[in-house]
Amino acid sequence: MALPAQSAALLAAAVAVAAAAFLLPPSSRLSWTPRGRFADMILANATIYTADDARPFAGAMAVRAGRVLRVGAYESVKELKGRHTHELNLSGNVVLPGFIDSHVHFIDGGLQLARVPLRGVRSREDFISRVKEATRDKHPGQWILGGGWNNDVWGGDFPAASWLDDISPDNPVWLSRMDGHMGIANSLAMKIAGIDRSTNDPIGGAIMRTAEGEPTGLLVDTAMVLMFDVIEKVSTHERREALLRASRHALMRGVTTVVDVGNYFPGVSPEKTWQDFSDVYEWAHSMQKMMIRVCLFFPMPTWARVSDLIGKNGRSLSQWIHLGGVKAFLDGSLGSSSALFHEPYEGDPGNYGLQVTDMDSLLNRTSESDKSGLQVAIHAIGDKANDMLLDMVDKVVDLNGVRDRRFRIEHAQHLAPDAANRFGKQGIIASVQPDHLLDDADSAAKKIGFDRAERSSYTFRSLLAGGAQLAFGSDWPVSDINPLQAIQTAISRKPPGWEVPWIPAERLSLDESLKAHTISAAYACFLDHAVGSLSERKYADFVVLPSTSWDDFAGDLPAHVLATYVSGKLAYP
Ligand SMILES: *[C@@H]1O[C@H](CO)[C@@H](O)[C@H](O)[C@H]1NC(C)=O
Ligand SMILES: *[C@@H]1O[C@H](CO)[C@@H](O)[C@H](O)[C@H]1NC(C)=O
Ligand SMILES: *[C@@H]1O[C@H](CO)[C@@H](O)[C@H](O)[C@H]1NC(C)=O
Repeated sequence: MALPAQSAALLAAAVAVAAAAFLLPPSSRLSWTPRGRFADMILANATIYTADDARPFAGAMAVRAGRVLRVGAYESVKELKGRHTHELNLSGNVVLPGFIDSHVHFIDGGLQLARVPLRGVRSREDFISRVKEATRDKHPGQWILGGGWNNDVWGGDFPAASWLDDISPDNPVWLSRMDGHMGIANSLAMKIAGIDRSTNDPIGGAIMRTAEGEPTGLLVDTAMVLMFDVIEKVSTHERREALLRASRHALMRGVTTVVDVGNYFPGVSPEKTWQDFSDVYEWAHSMQKMMIRVCLFFPMPTWARVSDLIGKNGRSLSQWIHLGGVKAFLDGSLGSSSALFHEPYEGDPGNYGLQVTDMDSLLNRTSESDKSGLQVAIHAIGDKANDMLLDMVDKVVDLNGVRDRRFRIEHAQHLAPDAANRFGKQGIIASVQPDHLLDDADSAAKKIGFDRAERSSYTFRSLLAGGAQLAFGSDWPVSDINPLQAIQTAISRKPPGWEVPWIPAERLSLDESLKAHTISAAYACFLDHAVGSLSERKYADFVVLPSTSWDDFAGDLPAHVLATYVSGKLAYP
């Protein structure tokens, strides 16, 4: 029988809807809530590390509607198995809570994945050949962008425009150093930016020059803004693609939540972070394209806007997007000799580093943000910068009273002798990046002297002993997102080529390191009610590892995850 035209059209529409639903990304299928008491999925015969001290290990877990329904022995979980329950027999494989990366520049990271990769480049020749390769598919005038280089690995010589001019006469080039605090431009890029010998150093930055006063092409801290102003604008489409690329990259590494501190930098307009929020995150939210959870930090000067936004929407736009708080900077970085120390840099007696924000305005904005209930995260790398923040937090508490504010110091990389205890006493979170120590182990002694480096660097054990909460992160794209690697680093502290650990007394245990990448990291961004451990009612975000017993895992940490689940759905591979 022929269908009436109208029914045929309806049927076609229904088929199209069904097909579309099938093609939608996993995120859009999550709102379905099953009725009844049974689990959607049961993990059986697993070695589950929960990161929940109430029940550290379990053999089985039931998931319903994207959340953990029960964790425990298979005997107690199997009663939740119904006709439609999917049972996954893990044959002993280790399961961990999804990792939380506490400090990423997420969209920049995603953009970087598509640019000239200079991380791991070990010589001037290799550096030049990678850039040369990148010029091949560019037409004249098109920018060549990249980053991740580290001059310390090839002996310390800074790159110069002259390295690049012969191979890229028709393309402006800008390549940022791995720490993001300096970059190298070729002569064409310098010309476009209008930088020459008569250009003055901006406040909080430097244009490196030859003995004759000619700029070398190297720009430090706020001087980089001169270049940012002329680099062709990254399109909205590219930034959206970057978010999706970054999300897939993170999921591949077992990361299910990131704290995105944006692309705010002293001297950079705070508007850029807000544009990423409206053009990229709100877009991904409305198009149901979010694949991992993000907690966003916004530039501190715009704290009132964050406060308004939270006033209107609450702290969560959805299960995916959380409004974290505000971020500011106090100093630069060790690699660029701009981290702020009590004593000068080795062999540079006048240089104590750079204070990039004045203390009065930082205290004013911190206390205003704090008063409005926002969480505050401030970048401090040198021992003096950290001490200044510890003092400042005392003042904020005097002004606004005691509350659960979870003030974060980002990096907390070099600490004066008493500082670790103050983190504990004042309840301050140390948001640290273990993998940075792999790069700094060799250079810290050169920059600040052997003794100071040994006393003060990456003092994870001292911080925990002092009662501080540690939150691990990567600072991606500064280091790659790779929690399993960071955990290995925190346990062994062995930089490449080293026979012995760097400052062995500061090593952590496996359990401490895992917590710093899961439950403590969740606490550090006020998401511990929802993620960070495999506990009942939290999101079923977890990773499955190739190790088939806990001893196997603890004895030899795997380099890769087998699978990543977000809200109980397979998100990788
Ligand atoms: C899981 O699979 C193993 C074989 O790989 C089997 O011995 C075991 O009974 C299974 N367990 C469950 C709970 O399904
Ligand atoms: C779990 O898996 C291992 C490895 O396949 C198997 O030897 C064991 O019998 C399984 N145990 C249960 C309770 O399923
Ligand atoms: C911050 O500065 C503004 C403008 O000068 C002032 O009105 C406000 O009272 C200050 N707030 C604090 C907490 O110092």
